[in-house]
Amino acid sequence: MVPVLLSLPFLLGPAVHRETPGAGPYSLTFLYTGLSRPSRVLPRFQATAFLNDQAFFHYNSDSRKAEPLGPWRQIKGMEDWEKESQLQKAREEIFLVTLKDIMDYYKDREGSHTLQGMFSCEIQNNRSSAAFWRYAYDGQDFIEFNKEIPAWVPLHPAAWKTKQKWEAEKVYLQRAKAYLEEECPRMLRRYLNYSKAHLDRQDSPSVSVTGYSVPGRNKTLKCLASDFYPPEIGLRWIHAGKKRESESRVDVLPSGNGTYQSWVVVEIPPHDRGPHFCLVEHSGLAQSLTVPWEEKQKAGAEGNVETQPQ
Ligand SMILES: *[C@@H]1O[C@H](CO)[C@@H](O)[C@H](O)[C@H]1NC(C)=O
Ligand SMILES: *[C@@H]1O[C@H](CO)[C@@H](O)[C@H](O)[C@H]1NC(C)=O
Ligand SMILES: *[C@@H]1O[C@H](CO)[C@@H](O)[C@H](O)[C@H]1NC(C)=O
Ligand SMILES: *[C@@H]1O[C@H](CO)[C@@H](O)[C@H](O)[C@H]1NC(C)=O
Repeated sequence: MVPVLLSLPFLLGPAVHRETPGAGPYSLTFLYTGLSRPSRVLPRFQATAFLNDQAFFHYNSDSRKAEPLGPWRQIKGMEDWEKESQLQKAREEIFLVTLKDIMDYYKDREGSHTLQGMFSCEIQNNRSSAAFWRYAYDGQDFIEFNKEIPAWVPLHPAAWKTKQKWEAEKVYLQRAKAYLEEECPRMLRRYLNYSKAHLDRQDSPSVSVTGYSVPGRNKTLKCLASDFYPPEIGLRWIHAGKKRESESRVDVLPSGNGTYQSWVVVEIPPHDRGPHFCLVEHSGLAQSLTVPWEEKQKAGAEGNVETQPQ
């Protein structure tokens, strides 16, 4: 199993409110995973690059090719994919040597282990605003780059050896720093030249409201928002002008094609006939959307489904 410590939601951080369209922040993130024991479905090494939260190319040790994903397949001239493949091949080599070094340190050449790496830079108003570079071994923090010193900071006993290797020459540290602070933002600017419209798009949610009831028990009302972008959304149930207390909020989940979905559920007593409203707020909507749910069938019926596409 691949530990999910370094998964993308972890780096997305708190919801960012985008005030000025086109100002960002925009980020470029690379996520690497190396496995000591690959399988048919999990290659020894894979790399995925993201523009903001959107995966835009993938490379793995089976195909040995960097291949654009989703809408980036259609964009010509954005990247030299042959050159990118060579770059990722070189990264694969360094990455797998690091994994082997750690396993050697523990004298464990047979076990099943995972090394994950992530580096990211961000620009806002066309200025470099954040960057990091870190690794995790078997789901635990391993080493991270401190670009102010600059130095690799070990977070794990086996990481001292890695630090020695990566700092063997002074120029290595300067290169790592320049990569994060200059090269990465430069790549990001170039990619944005082709990708801004896609990243700035506002896809408004489709909303559907559903009710389920079992005789004598509470009714469950569910408000589902789907196909929206960006992921920040406000979703809640309102009754008689008040926010419902007993609602459970479910996280925003990716749909796998660049859009997101989310839902909110409320329980109401069997005799409650409403009206209840689902209030949806999203940057893609000119104004907040209020979708009503009202009892239309007699209690005990299978459910009441209303859909209001937007
Ligand atoms: C963004 O910054 C880069 C480098 O600092 C500069 O070359 C470029 O002209 C800037 N672009 C805009 C739109 O200001
Ligand atoms: C930006 O993209 C256009 C094509 O859309 C291309 O002609 C131009 O060279 C690009 N500029 C930079 C700085 O990459
Ligand atoms: C994305 O996936 C969702 C759920 O599978 C689907 O309803 C929606 O139409 C898809 N949107 C696009 C733009 O492909
Ligand atoms: C029914 O819903 C109310 C809130 O509307 C809640 O206080 C109560 O605990 C629920 N009862 C059950 C059995 O879930």
